[in-house]
Amino acid sequence: MPRINRKDEHIIIRLKQRPGLADFSDIHLIHNCLPERDLDEVTLETSLLEQRLRSPLFINALTGGTPLSKRINAALAGAARECGLPLALGSQRVALENRLVEDTFKVVREVYPDGQIWANLGSYATPELARRAVEMIDAAALQIHLNTPQELVMAEGDRSFRGALQRISEIAAAVSKPVIVKEVGCGIAREQALLLLEAGVSAIDVGGRGGTNFMAIENRRSRKRLSREILDWGLPTAISLLEVLDAAAGRRAGVIAGGGMFSSLNIAKALALGADAVGLAGEPLYLLLKRGRRALVKAIKKLEEELRLIMLLTGSATLGELRRAPLVITGFTGAWKKERALHLPRHR
Ligand SMILES: Cc1cc2nc3c(=O)[nH]c(=O)nc-3n(C[C@H](O)[C@H](O)[C@H](O)COP(=O)(O)O)c2cc1C
Repeated sequence: MPRINRKDEHIIIRLKQRPGLADFSDIHLIHNCLPERDLDEVTLETSLLEQRLRSPLFINALTGGTPLSKRINAALAGAARECGLPLALGSQRVALENRLVEDTFKVVREVYPDGQIWANLGSYATPELARRAVEMIDAAALQIHLNTPQELVMAEGDRSFRGALQRISEIAAAVSKPVIVKEVGCGIAREQALLLLEAGVSAIDVGGRGGTNFMAIENRRSRKRLSREILDWGLPTAISLLEVLDAAAGRRAGVIAGGGMFSSLNIAKALALGADAVGLAGEPLYLLLKRGRRALVKAIKKLEEELRLIMLLTGSATLGELRRAPLVITGFTGAWKKERALHLPRHR
């Protein structure tokens, strides 16, 4: 039997795993019984990478490089267009190595010609590769993913991780589009966030633990049978968000909440903490492949509708007001914040 392409295998395994949502249960928004706002006034407008967006949601990097991924990218682009959201593509490395599969990425421009499309490469990328990835799809921004845990579990994965920060800084200086650095499920801590911001990145997507678990996916692919405690490695999304918000305090850089965020309440909490935008990946993929594009569009619209209700119930007509609404951080997350002396200005 021919070996299935790794990218397709990730998709198939992700569909079999139903990871829960990120844990924001220690973050509490407070009910406002006198909101003095009309629902019609409530707007989800945000700004990210110096651009106004009608909603803080976007579809995060998923795939590319195979016939299946071409169909998925076309459908995701259709859903993103219908919802008016940015769309990030999966790693374009494969298309930089083999021009014949460029169409599996470029298809999004046929479907969503005027959309905000983000390019994607790993931290192996050089400024030249980064420029080519951006040009390939006329991207508005470039994501660079950090995925050491995944590589370590992958049988054929990288074992050398030196030089990533230097390359990221060279890319940020050389590429004319904003650079977003993202984790893919293990989160980013304050110390590394500070280094990335010093390196000139425009935004950080925390990519925390709680949603798609790439160590578990690779563990299944490689049949390594690593222990559960290793597979649960990483910073939960809510905690990673606090870490990165602390690092970004007083800077213009954007902060994105990603990792198990397919819940309107969690999205509201992340935005109230100070996130500028929220990335959704595994769940949109699951909905698309299991229930179809219409179901995906419906689910995204429902998230937005519920988000507006929650905003009204905190007395907020804008995301700026949501950041000023009172909130309480308890339990493990509160203790973590204290122990790490994390500051949370909320409005930067
Ligand atoms: C099947 C699959 C493939 C992915 N491929 C990429 C990729 O190529 N590049 C990347 O930066 N992130 C990739 N991701 C990670 C997502 O963009 C996201 O950061 C991560 O899954 C956490 O979000 P989630 O919990 O909403 O899935 C992939 C995720 C899935 C589920």
